[in-house]
Amino acid sequence: MSESIILGIESSCDDTSAAIIRDNKILSNIAANQEIHNEYGGVVPELASRAHQQNIIPVVEKAFSKANIQQNDICAIGFTRGPGLLGSLLVGTSFAKSLAMSLDVPLIEVNHLQAHILAHFIEDANPTPPTFPFLCLTVSGGHTMIVLIKDYFDMEIIGKTIDDAAGEAFDKIGKIFDLDYPAGPIVDRLAKEGNPDAFKFNKPRMEGYDYSFSGIKTSVLYFIQKEVRKNPDFIKDNLNDLCASVQKSIIEILMDKLEKASTDLNVKDVAIAGGVSANSSLRKAMEDNREKLGWNIFIPKFEYTTDNAAMIAMVAKLKYERGEFTDIRTTATAKYDL
Ligand code: KG4
Ligand code: ZN
Repeated sequence: MSESIILGIESSCDDTSAAIIRDNKILSNIAANQEIHNEYGGVVPELASRAHQQNIIPVVEKAFSKANIQQNDICAIGFTRGPGLLGSLLVGTSFAKSLAMSLDVPLIEVNHLQAHILAHFIEDANPTPPTFPFLCLTVSGGHTMIVLIKDYFDMEIIGKTIDDAAGEAFDKIGKIFDLDYPAGPIVDRLAKEGNPDAFKFNKPRMEGYDYSFSGIKTSVLYFIQKEVRKNPDFIKDNLNDLCASVQKSIIEILMDKLEKASTDLNVKDVAIAGGVSANSSLRKAMEDNREKLGWNIFIPKFEYTTDNAAMIAMVAKLKYERGEFTDIRTTATAKYDL
């Protein structure tokens, strides 16, 4: 097939991102993060859509200039159709549709969750890409699931959270510790200076490969309320140890089920994806299993972990090769199954 140059657009939550891919190589991957949400302790949907409106044109222009590509050189536009916040998705979707019409190139819809997983096929994502079938622990602020990937577009969710996502647990527990949103990366940083065995929190007992994170959040909340009554400075005095202990519990919960799935299904190619895959303790646990359990591990580069358009462009490229195009009348969708 002749060379393909594709623009990818991502706007499902609070990052506006655009990327250009040539074959499997990312030429540019630009993101504008919306700091406006930090003071609210979570993403405010209305503010997110407005910020996408402001950011989308400069971000796309920057993606073209960094890649040194002219608009007329692209052969398709990929965009996140869902899942995500509807108002946010609408900005990227409408922009992608308009540009596709004006450049007269095909439009390609992308499932955000598939994109987190298929980011592993970006040229510089791994020394060698995973081989099918492989398992992928997909962990973000909105999703936590173990997916069996049988082929690029043949994926089966074998376990998922029944309540909070792992990223949400990091963020909500961080909020109890009075940390800014998103707390996940802050907890990760503070945990490096703390003792992971300082405090113990209850772990859920779940059947099969499903997860639950609301229990640990409640257990941390009650523990903190009790301790703060005795010592109002308890959080401040123990912040690093609290972060290290919470992180240890969350990562153990995630890894227990992933290890069980790998053993039961006898699948040794194991990947992680999504925002929480940036977590240093999760990365270390994966590395340990390379030795301990003989896994071939696939850990995304940092720039491909949190929301980014490179992964959207990658999926668009795979669909472009298959001739899978999207009707211009398509609409964004908040829910979108794998
Ligand atoms: O994939 P993502 O950027 O957006 C969603 O699709 O949700 O994931 C964002 C989530 C947030 O909950 C954030 O706290 C978490 O990923 N996160 C982390 C780390 N970096 C991002 N959680 C733990 N440790 C990190 N280093
Ligand atoms: Zn995401």
